[in-house]
Amino acid sequence: MNPANKKPISKTVPGRPGLGKTVTVKAQALRRLRGRYPFGHAGDILDAQAGIESGEVVDVIGEDRSFVGRGYFNAGGATPLRMLTLEREDIDEGFYRRRVREAISRRSGQIHGTDAMRVLHAEADGLSGVVADQFGEVLAVQLRNAGTERHRELILGALKKETGAGAAYERSDVGERRREGLEPVTGLLWGEVPERIRFREDELQLFFDWQSAQKTGFFLDQRDNRRMLAGLVKPGQQFLDVYSYTGGFSLHAALRGAQTVAIDKDAAALGILEAVAHANKLTAGARLGDALEVLAQLEREKRRFDAVVLDPPTLAKRRDDVPNAKRVFTTAAASALKMLNPGGHLLISTCAHYLKVDDLLDAARVAAGEAGAAAQVVAVTYQPADHPFMLAVPESLYLKSVLLRKE
Ligand SMILES: C[S@@+](CC[C@H](N)C(=O)[O-])C[C@H]1O[C@@H](n2cnc3c(N)ncnc32)[C@H](O)[C@@H]1O
Repeated sequence: MNPANKKPISKTVPGRPGLGKTVTVKAQALRRLRGRYPFGHAGDILDAQAGIESGEVVDVIGEDRSFVGRGYFNAGGATPLRMLTLEREDIDEGFYRRRVREAISRRSGQIHGTDAMRVLHAEADGLSGVVADQFGEVLAVQLRNAGTERHRELILGALKKETGAGAAYERSDVGERRREGLEPVTGLLWGEVPERIRFREDELQLFFDWQSAQKTGFFLDQRDNRRMLAGLVKPGQQFLDVYSYTGGFSLHAALRGAQTVAIDKDAAALGILEAVAHANKLTAGARLGDALEVLAQLEREKRRFDAVVLDPPTLAKRRDDVPNAKRVFTTAAASALKMLNPGGHLLISTCAHYLKVDDLLDAARVAAGEAGAAAQVVAVTYQPADHPFMLAVPESLYLKSVLLRKE
């Protein structure tokens, strides 16, 4: 983060006639905000009117008092300004309903073979801090910032009406809320929410327990990669699913007749993997533990695989974390490449905005050197259409994957 962004916003000014509560931004931020970039950092704020409550909607103006737009303002937040619109429109339930409708139409005809989809992807859908995933009839909601917390009833009302979901739960237990001065919140929102949330991905009947699951419950964003990798395996081949969570990749591969091993440090997730495999009449192996340690163990056991996926958590939450994250990728990829049979595939994925495709390729190149392997880059993929990447919001590109084929 730019050190200028860390300055507290202390300068407050009296109200301005004809406007709601106002926040004045510096000239440096105008072009960005008018270009639909949704975040204003502390260093972008010239002054804020006295008495703005945390997360309140404000009118954003330039130094010349020209109107820029409206957004949530939280003087104490890590990102004080979160833009919602460039129009002079009311931020009411009608506004939130329009945004949800736009998000649904953005996805129209794009997602196939499943009854689960990310309905709202926060800033990428013009609704800062609101994430909603639909699993069949049930909606999972995350409200991440002070503005969404203030407008929770309006947002939930809009989601209920526009998605038609019969039931919903909340999993707003994310680190971002702490940085906004908010407590984590989880619980039932409306309707009858079963403990076990069920949905379909292709021929697989999947489920998770919503209270103990990670994030909103399931990593919908890897859907296309799961299909791509499973499409490459043949019956009887060996498949290794590293950082597996509930084994989405493993289960797709098992459905194609592969013998699978999943590695994760989350025992509950591996328990779900086992239960889902059983429910789908599949067999899926699992090893509980640290991924790098289990990989080393598999190498010592002289195991061989035909396809491997490495899908770690966000190893780089800040730019400074990139070198360490690359080292983890290199270690894991070297191990995977050593155990891959010739002609086998390795998929390396990152959900960290700060890690670029080139970082994955660099890490893979060093790993191939260590493993004494040659590999072809067969594909580079990005997040699916229900996790939109909006041109004006560079941070909305987060999931990048490279598919390698060992020579
Ligand atoms: C992005 S998720 C994987 C999602 C999964 N591939 C899917 O398709 O559902 C990352 C997973 O890594 C696991 N994890 C994090 N650190 C780990 C570690 N050091 N060793 C093993 N697993 C780890 C987490 O528990 C989480 O399940």
